[in-house]
Amino acid sequence: MENKCVVVGVTAGIAAYKICQLVSSLTKQGDEVHVIMTKDAEKFVTPLTFQTLSKQKVITDMFTVDYIPDVHHISLAKKADLFVIAPATANIIAKVSNGIADDLLTTTFLAATCPKLIVPAMNTYMLNNPITQANITKCREYGMHVMEAYAGYLACGDLGAGRLPDPEDIEDAITSLIEKDRYLTGKNILISAGATREEIDPVRYITNHSSGKMGYALARAARNAGANVTLISGQTNLRKPYGINQINVNSASEMYDAVISEFDHSDVTIMAAAVADYTPVEKADQKIKKSEGNWSLNLQRTQDILHTIGEKKKEYQMIIGFAMETENLMENAEKKLHEKNVDYIIANSLKDIGAGFGVDTNVVKIVSAHSVENLGLLSKDDTAKEILRHCLKK
Ligand code: CTP
Repeated sequence: MENKCVVVGVTAGIAAYKICQLVSSLTKQGDEVHVIMTKDAEKFVTPLTFQTLSKQKVITDMFTVDYIPDVHHISLAKKADLFVIAPATANIIAKVSNGIADDLLTTTFLAATCPKLIVPAMNTYMLNNPITQANITKCREYGMHVMEAYAGYLACGDLGAGRLPDPEDIEDAITSLIEKDRYLTGKNILISAGATREEIDPVRYITNHSSGKMGYALARAARNAGANVTLISGQTNLRKPYGINQINVNSASEMYDAVISEFDHSDVTIMAAAVADYTPVEKADQKIKKSEGNWSLNLQRTQDILHTIGEKKKEYQMIIGFAMETENLMENAEKKLHEKNVDYIIANSLKDIGAGFGVDTNVVKIVSAHSVENLGLLSKDDTAKEILRHCLKK
């Protein structure tokens, strides 16, 4: 990804220390990060900490004597690809929702025209105060993006909403807003990901090795390109992506119901989930006790979701399926392409080094009725971007 300029406004909340991790991570990935602190924020974290992590001079004062033209508030406002305020106190939210510009942070924020992200963190009663809620609504009405505060134990000892979202999630929100090539704007994209779980009894289930990483990477890539994304997620250990409508399911039959109910209003459907082909005929209500000798489980076929939507597909809809194989990759991929009436099959072989379950890379071929595009070894994030570009960028 092309490196971007991110301005991080830090205000006076105890969660300010968590922003060190965010600044460090953004800087490590090559972004140019400028931190602006309010005067009171300096009581929680020193400017030197952020300066060391960002490798940029931290600015705190409008009327500093060692003025550097490049970090002047107007030039920073112009240069920013994204402006995030985190943690955002009730006070800064009140100010920015009303256009107050009485210090370096608020002045630069008011002058910036890039996407703006506000990450509230405060005491739960301050957050729930109708005045703060009205100010948050106002920020959204002005086009700013406001993350939901997390719930949990707060530094003041109260329990409730008001915690700063985790730095990884703030970074994901930044990534979702910073991309300039929004070629999927207005498109509804439905993506399934992860493994299904077929319950045998209250203790046991049948599943597979899918980590969900490829499907989630596709969901984030589609979102970054501007699409409205619905993610039907089976079992994964992955963080919920920012700005995506996520529906969690367990079994193949729950995934079937969720995909079918979303399918009609989807322009593009991508079935990346590893859906079980068989499920127990009966689920035992009580734990099955062992006995002497062998035991066998009676299984029945699940419904093939891709096949069903392939039959329902309308002219304006596109369907992309996956085929993970251990032998005869192209033959099986082409068979699935035709039998399931889909536009593309993303084929990968478990035998390829760097492809398969759990890893962060993949090796795929994009198979259509007319062509085969070999993407080679890429990260799952890059594989996702290339799949979307190849299939959807006109
Ligand atoms: N799929 C589906 N519903 C199922 C099984 C699979 O929608 N019950 C989808 C998968 O999400 C994937 C594609 O079908 O996009 C191919 O899945 P795969 O497991 O590779 O193949 P199957 O169709 O199950 O065929 P086989 O097991 O014979 O390889």
